[in-house]
Amino acid sequence: MLKVENMEVFYGAINALRGISFEVNEGEVITLIGSNGAGKTTTLHAISNIIKKAKGKITFCETDITGLPPDAIVRSGLVQVPEGRRIFANLTVRENLDMGAYTRKDRQKISSDIEYVFSLFPRLRERSKQIAGTLSGGEQQMLAIGRALMASPKLLLLDEPSMGLAPILVDEIFHIIKTINEAGTTVLLVEQNAFKALGLASRAYILETGMIIKSGDSHELLKDDAVREAYLGG
Ligand SMILES: Nc1ncnc2c1ncn2[C@@H]1O[C@H](COP(=O)(O)OP(=O)(O)O)[C@@H](O)[C@H]1O
Ligand SMILES: [Mg+2]
Repeated sequence: MLKVENMEVFYGAINALRGISFEVNEGEVITLIGSNGAGKTTTLHAISNIIKKAKGKITFCETDITGLPPDAIVRSGLVQVPEGRRIFANLTVRENLDMGAYTRKDRQKISSDIEYVFSLFPRLRERSKQIAGTLSGGEQQMLAIGRALMASPKLLLLDEPSMGLAPILVDEIFHIIKTINEAGTTVLLVEQNAFKALGLASRAYILETGMIIKSGDSHELLKDDAVREAYLGG
């Protein structure tokens, strides 16, 4: 479904991605794990073409999308939930969700997608008129995911959804990601929380200083000594 080939990014003299290649198949949850500064966010921004200077080739649903403007990439079905939520703090919950559908004109499907988001996140329905900036961290993460779902993604890109959340909320968010995947949306999950991410994903790629140093079946990687040492506390 998504194929990234030889992606390379420089920020000035910093070589943030050193020619990485990976694939996501339709229906999968795939995770890209790596510690702080490994290049995870850069990878997602390069796919969404938010940073305009990535080299390499990106194929999505059999189409070469390399260099397409970000809004066209969203319309093609590739939608990112940004790191640190980035919701519109001064708008209400409902207005944030409406903003997520900005690329769409199919009114009826938009209404049914709002219902879908509210059924996934009942707390967002209860708080639909609340100003988003006053939500808790966990609720803001839910809103960020809900807003991305309003763009009707085929492939959802999630940038560290567990960041800064209490363990019980992390469990809740991961459970919802699983539900979203089971409902038919493919997921590319970027995480520092390797243990949780490997528990959810079928396959994983491990990113270190801009290079994929290992990849494979999540269960195998959970048993791998070097992975346990570096990412799972031994
Ligand atoms: N806008 C930027 N300008 C310069 N360097 C950057 C910029 N964004 C990221 N970097 C650097 O690129 C590397 C990868 O960053 P990033 O993709 O944010 O990593 P991660 O998301 O895995 O924590 C880091 O060394 C970071 O300092
Ligand atoms: Mg990041």
